[in-house]
Amino acid sequence: MIATSLSNADRFAQSQSAQEVLRRQVGVLRRDLVGRDLDREIIGTGPAMDKVLRLIASAAASSIPVLIEGETGTGKELVARAIHRASDRAAGPFVAVNCAAFTETLLESELFGHRRGAFTGAATDEPGLFRAASGGVILLDEVGEMPLPMQPKLLRVLEEREITPVGDTRPQKVDVRVLSATNRELGAAVKAKTFREDLYYRLAVFPIPVPTLRDRREDIPLLASRFLEANAKSSGKRIGGFDADAIDALTRFDWPGNVRQLRNEIARAVALATDGQKIGRAYLLAALSASGETMATPDPPPALSPSTGDFAGPWQPLAKAKTDFEARYVATALAHTGGKVAEAARLLGISRVALHKRIKKQAPR
Ligand SMILES: Nc1ncnc2c1ncn2[C@@H]1O[C@H](COP(=O)(O)OP(=O)(O)OP(=O)(O)O)[C@@H](O)[C@H]1O
Ligand SMILES: [Mg+2]
Repeated sequence: MIATSLSNADRFAQSQSAQEVLRRQVGVLRRDLVGRDLDREIIGTGPAMDKVLRLIASAAASSIPVLIEGETGTGKELVARAIHRASDRAAGPFVAVNCAAFTETLLESELFGHRRGAFTGAATDEPGLFRAASGGVILLDEVGEMPLPMQPKLLRVLEEREITPVGDTRPQKVDVRVLSATNRELGAAVKAKTFREDLYYRLAVFPIPVPTLRDRREDIPLLASRFLEANAKSSGKRIGGFDADAIDALTRFDWPGNVRQLRNEIARAVALATDGQKIGRAYLLAALSASGETMATPDPPPALSPSTGDFAGPWQPLAKAKTDFEARYVATALAHTGGKVAEAARLLGISRVALHKRIKKQAPR
């Protein structure tokens, strides 16, 4: 009997350690998966990003609510998608909803759906985004902007795991993992009483702070060259990288619009550069100096600048020059607003739709 017990204990210990090994392996594989996706890759090899990647892997391995916090353009949605992809819900849908984009009543029906005739214009039954995300993940983006009356309803969903469509009385079970993201300090919103404390604690069980670009400058050269590669490829240009001065300027800049702004800035520089050239600092001037970076005056870029009084060539057909100038002007506005289309459209005095069309035309992806 003793011998059997001992051998059982032995086997038990073995299977425990085998389990432990498997658990570790899954962890490692998850981390790999996070870093390796070529399409929606999270670029960054420094310690700050390494920490984020580790948090993503842990978040993916569990099902607790995650709150992704970071300034605009830091990659919060990218992080949310990475969690989804590395989790056991990867085969299910990923649905993102911008909570700031809806009024209270619209947001409720957007999230929970509605019955036909629930309100004027509700011509059919709509399932809502929670049901659309069934078996997968929903990202509540800009969750801090969620209208106050909507907040207890969300809390109930998180607690009961069921939704009640607008105009319905019967709640329905939903199986959805909730991630949320915010670019403002939710704790402060709680203090200001624009965000419910109980909901805050429910959502922020596992916070993932995403660092600003200026807090991980070590990643700027890599990010810049990856964006350069991608842009050069899609525009069919051969660009010989950046010169040292340009890299220096990029690395020292403060990037209020973070990675999104860097990405737009590189797109603009590639649009300006001619085939076979390197990107010099002159190509980056507009956005960098617009935000007050002090540098030695660089050589003017060979293309047209907004003030053409001292234009020194090379001369080109007016139509081409006009298109180039417009592309550059639009890109400068976008870089200036950190990629915020609505704001840039306002600066340029055109509609958002018109600006979107221009961007699409300029940067086929
Ligand atoms: N680490 C990164 N590696 C590669 N690309 C990144 C990284 N971080 C952000 N980006 C890119 O920057 C842009 C902005 O990212 P994303 O939309 O995830 O930011 P966000 O934090 O959700 O911004 P917002 O607060 O304005 O919604 C995207 O084009 C994204 O692909
Ligand atoms: Mg976002």
